[in-house]
Amino acid sequence: MNVQKARMIVDKEYKLAEADPRLYSSFIEHLGRAVYGGIYEPDHPESDEYGFRKDVAAMIQEVGVPLIRYPGGNFVSGYNWEDGVGPVESRPRRLELAWRTIEPNEVGTNEFIRWAKGLSSDVMMAVNLGTRGVDAARNLVEYCNHPSGSTYSDLRISHGFTEPHKIKTWCLGNEMDGPWQIGQKTADEYGRLAAETAKAMRLVDPTIELVACGSSFRSMPTYAQWEATVLDHTYEQVDYLSLHSYYGNPEGNTANYLAKSLDMDHFICEIVAVCDYIKAKKRSKKTLHLSFDEWNIWFHTLESDKAIEPWQVAPSQLEDCYTFEDALLVGSLLITLLNHADRVKIACLAQLVNVIAPIMTETGGRAWKQTIFYPYLHASLYGRGTVLLPVISSPLYDSKDYTDVPMLDSAVVFREEAEELVVFAVNKSLDSALLLDCDVRGFQDYRVQEHIVLENKDVSAVNTAEEPDKVRPHNRGDAAVADGRLTASLPKLSWNVIRLARRSSL
Ligand code: AHR
Repeated sequence: MNVQKARMIVDKEYKLAEADPRLYSSFIEHLGRAVYGGIYEPDHPESDEYGFRKDVAAMIQEVGVPLIRYPGGNFVSGYNWEDGVGPVESRPRRLELAWRTIEPNEVGTNEFIRWAKGLSSDVMMAVNLGTRGVDAARNLVEYCNHPSGSTYSDLRISHGFTEPHKIKTWCLGNEMDGPWQIGQKTADEYGRLAAETAKAMRLVDPTIELVACGSSFRSMPTYAQWEATVLDHTYEQVDYLSLHSYYGNPEGNTANYLAKSLDMDHFICEIVAVCDYIKAKKRSKKTLHLSFDEWNIWFHTLESDKAIEPWQVAPSQLEDCYTFEDALLVGSLLITLLNHADRVKIACLAQLVNVIAPIMTETGGRAWKQTIFYPYLHASLYGRGTVLLPVISSPLYDSKDYTDVPMLDSAVVFREEAEELVVFAVNKSLDSALLLDCDVRGFQDYRVQEHIVLENKDVSAVNTAEEPDKVRPHNRGDAAVADGRLTASLPKLSWNVIRLARRSSL
C-alpha cells in the first residue's frame, strides 16, 4: 500500500479565534423545489399543521443550522415582500423573473420565520435592492421588528404575529454587480443605495446588523474594485461584507478539483485585504467581518437546467446530485472557513433543501441525505469552540491550475468546556494513505473518543432515494494517542473527524 507522511503540531496556546456558530448557516431561496416541494408540502404525509415537512425538518435539526438566509438570492431582487404576508388566498401569483417561474406566494415572511424558529434557527433576511430600495426595506424592518403601534407593526399583528420577529441580520440586496441580477448596479450606485438603506433600516431598529454585497464571485471583471468602492460608501454603516463562490469539476480532474479550496482561501485573504485597506483609508477603528453567505458545489445541472420550461411553479432546478468527491471538497472548504474564523463570522452552505443542497426530497415521497451532508453535519456538531492554528507539514502536489497543493487539509477546534479536541482532516491524495503524526502538546491526558471517516472506492458514488446510504461515514478510523502524540492513518481520498476527549471525561 502506498503511504505518505504528514506532521502537525497542535498547541492550545496557538489560538486563532472562537468559531462563530454561524459558520454552519445555510440558505433557502424561493427557487426550484427548495420551498415548495422541499421544506413545504402540505399534501405530504409527513407535513405538520402548517404544511411543512417534518422529515426534512428533522434532518435540518440534526445538523443544528444556526441561521438560514432567506428569501434569496437572485429571487429577492424582484420580490415584493408584501406579496407574501396576509391571508394566503389573496396573495398574488407573480412571474418570478430571476428563475423564470411562477411564484404562488403561499409561503412568505411569517410562515418562513415561524418554521425556522421551530427548528431553533435564526433567519438572515435579505431586502430587495434590485427593483426596490430604501422605502420597502425600512417598511420590512418595521413589519418584522417593531413591537406595535405603527402601520407595519400593526399589520404584522393583524396577520396573527403579535410578537416582533426580532430579525437581527439583514442582507442589503444580493449580487448587485451581476448582469443577471434584476436591477444590477454599478459599485457607486449600489454603495450609495446600500448606505442610505442601511441608515433608514437602523433608524427603525438600531440593534440590527447589516451585510453589504461583495462581488458575485472572484472572477467578476469588477472584482476587488467593487468591494473597495462599495466599502468607501458603506464602511461605517455595515457589519459584514458578503462573499459568494461555487466550485465545480466539469473536466473530471479530481486532483485539480480538490485543490480548489485554495481558491476559497485566496478569495478570503484578498477580501480581508480590501476591507483593511478601506479601514486604513478611513482611519476607522472598526474591523469589518466577512459573511461567506453563498458557498457550495454547483456544476452538475448547469447545462441540463437550460432545457427547463419557463413559468412553472417549483420546477426541479439546480438539483445537483452530489458525488463522493464533492463531499471531500465541501470538507476542505469547511476547513478553510474554520481557518479564517477570525474574520469569517457567517457562512451559508447554499442551499439547504433540493436546490444545490445537502438534503433532497421526492415530492410526495422520501427525503435523503446527499454526500455533502456529512462533512456539513460533522463541522456543525464538532466545530464549535476555539479554532487553534495547527502547524502543518504535508506532502504537496501540483495540478492543472494549482501548484504546491497540500495533500493534507486540516483545522483543529478545542472545545474547552466539553474537554474535547477535534481534528478535521482531508487527505486529497488519489493513491496514498497519509500517516498523520500530530504533536498534541498540552493534551497528554486526552484519548481518542472517535475517528470518523468518509471514504469510498468510487469518486463518483452518489446517494439517491433508492440507495440513500451509498456514501456514509463510519467510525472505524485507527487514530490513537500515546505520549502526547496523535497518530492516524488517513485513507486516500478521505474526510476525517478525530475527536479526542480528556481521559476523565471518557
Ligand atoms: O444559490 C443560487 C444562486 O446563486 C443565488 O440565487 C444567487 O445569489 C447566486 O448566483
